[in-house]
Amino acid sequence: MVAGSSAVLAGLGGWLPPRVVGNAELAARLDTSDEWIRSRTGIAERRVVDDGMSTVDMSVAAGGRALRSAGVDRVGAVVLATATPDQPCPASAPQVASRLGQGEAAAFDVNAVCSGFVYALATAAGLIAARVVRDVLVVGADAFTTLLDPDDRGTVPIFGDGAGAVVLRAGDPGEPGAFGPFDLHSDGDQAELLIVPAGGSRQPRPVEPRDRYLRMEGQAVFRHATTRMAESSRAVLDELGWTVGEVDRFVGHQANVRILSTVAKQLGLPADGLVVNIDRTGNTSAASIPLALVDGVRDGSLRPGDRVLLAAFGAGFTWGATGLRWPDLDVDPL
Ligand code: COA
Repeated sequence: MVAGSSAVLAGLGGWLPPRVVGNAELAARLDTSDEWIRSRTGIAERRVVDDGMSTVDMSVAAGGRALRSAGVDRVGAVVLATATPDQPCPASAPQVASRLGQGEAAAFDVNAVCSGFVYALATAAGLIAARVVRDVLVVGADAFTTLLDPDDRGTVPIFGDGAGAVVLRAGDPGEPGAFGPFDLHSDGDQAELLIVPAGGSRQPRPVEPRDRYLRMEGQAVFRHATTRMAESSRAVLDELGWTVGEVDRFVGHQANVRILSTVAKQLGLPADGLVVNIDRTGNTSAASIPLALVDGVRDGSLRPGDRVLLAAFGAGFTWGATGLRWPDLDVDPL
């Protein structure tokens, strides 16, 4: 990479809706228990949007914090990773950009579901490398609970809502905070394993009422998620020339604590190198990695100079990974 063409992490922020839903609240209305949810997923509570609160609202809150963390008012582009835009059309990023006072900045959505944040980072890094813009606000936000069948014990305990955001600026590849390389993949043959069947052009209105909700084959998704996140992580380590032993922190998509520990085991990473906050957030889809980054900085597990590996997996299927040396950032708590 030539000087000035790398994407460097310059600011970070996150936001969670105020309503906390603990496992006991779910156990009171679904055939489940706190013990089952904790032991199978690692989740104790999640945040849920109230009626009227949207992905754009959460993105504006997280994006504002990321801009403040970076000490900048304006960026050249806003890239929003989401699978739950405020409306099917238009994209939500332009509304986020306007509400954050970004004038006529380029703005668009990226939908790679739970891998969306890593895909959006790579997209933003491409905009910087191609000199389209000098800085980008990348937001990962999802109100995933709006896609769930409220009576489905297989999905309701797992997902939560939230938003996380970073500011990327043009910089040099050797700088702390410089991202890359990126490893991105997909396998559309597996789409049916994690899908909302209705609401798109294939089935605009649900044929069965349940078709408007997320359908998930949990065990199959679990297997694919662990294999693919480990593969992608290895590819990035090879490109970076880092050994597994040189990785200080692994920040994986927070889907299930057992998925994270299985990936760590497959890679040979020590369990104490994992950054985990799923106990308080659930799976927040595109928001999960930046929210884990915020918690990691706040609790001192991410320190300047650390070698950090990020990996994600999501519906589609999609997956990907990247790495960076952690920069020195001021970050507000969630
Ligand atoms: N409460 C209590 N019991 C439950 C339950 C719940 N919420 N959900 C399922 N069960 C039951 C099942 O019916 C099954 O009962 P049985 O043994 O009598 O048939 C038992 O618990 C085990 O179910 P199983 O599906 O094998 O559990 P699991 O260990 O695979 O855990 C998931 C289920 C969903 C937590 C797990 O498969 C998973 O995390 N998958 C990946 C999901 C994911 O990450 N999705 C997003 C990807 S981005």
